[in-house]
Amino acid sequence: MLVRVLQLLRDNQHQFLSGEKISEELGCSRTMVWKYIESLRKEGNEILAVSNKGYQLIGETDQLSEHEIKSRLMEDSLFKHVHFKDNVDSTQIVAQRLVNEGAHTGTIVIANEQTLGRGRLGREWFSPPDTGIWMSIIVRPEIELREAPQLTLVTAVAVARAISNVTDLEVGIKWPNDILINGKKVVGILTEMQADPDRVNSVIIGIGINTNQEKFPNELKKIATSLSMEKGKKINRAELIIQILKEFEWLYDAYLTMGFQFIKPLWEARAVSIGKRVKAVTTKEVFYGMAIGIDDQGVLLLEDDDGKIHPVYSADINH
Ligand code: BTN
Repeated sequence: MLVRVLQLLRDNQHQFLSGEKISEELGCSRTMVWKYIESLRKEGNEILAVSNKGYQLIGETDQLSEHEIKSRLMEDSLFKHVHFKDNVDSTQIVAQRLVNEGAHTGTIVIANEQTLGRGRLGREWFSPPDTGIWMSIIVRPEIELREAPQLTLVTAVAVARAISNVTDLEVGIKWPNDILINGKKVVGILTEMQADPDRVNSVIIGIGINTNQEKFPNELKKIATSLSMEKGKKINRAELIIQILKEFEWLYDAYLTMGFQFIKPLWEARAVSIGKRVKAVTTKEVFYGMAIGIDDQGVLLLEDDDGKIHPVYSADINH
């Protein structure tokens, strides 16, 4: 019900909506309407109430909640199952539990805070409350095992486009999945796959976005930034989440029907490493070379000083 009330108020922004009209639309009493309005106010939404006129939404909260997200999603969206938690260990862990219970493709887990946020290569992911977007998307694509890493690149393109749309900032992608603004990291993507011997069963795509942090711990200051620090104003998290889900939905669909060749040029257009000399740190070696592009599978290609080309499947890239 709260979802519907919020949708109605949003659809009628800049005008008053009478309690009677809302109660008719919802099929409930006006006392119930008043209670819903009170709940929405408690969550930080600014709703004006004027007798004989009704209610008007004048300012939306940045507090995340299940109905904040659901009220903004289209009915035919891929994302039918939204799980919002105020505090979790890691949305990846919650998503894994849901996968084990048979969660559908398009299930998402969003948290306001993570106490055990995890990054790539076993690192921690700093996930303080009220400021970031900590989200995991569950999908069950019919793709081959070797293709699964491509989903990271699909996601990076979706998130980069969404951030550009919402903030107008220039957004780059560092292979395979870091999103950078002015050379500093704002987004990390962690893709974890569950597979049978021959086919992908499910993929959990974790997305961490430094959105409204105003400061970082000393060890992160030099390498991390947030959208609000770059833009100079706070970003509405629910709005950005919806933009990401919209971009992801159509790009994921295009990827499944047309393959990675559709995503490749979109990824390359934002790539910050291509054409540069980089240092690739893999689990086995440190390798220097010129990043000349990615292949049709999304694998990074590095050219060494003798002109030999090496595929890089997994590494940290430093410029
Ligand atoms: C990276 O190391 O760059 C990847 C970071 C991924 C962080 C996100 S936040 C939501 C999801 N839950 C986690 O514990 N990690 C991912």
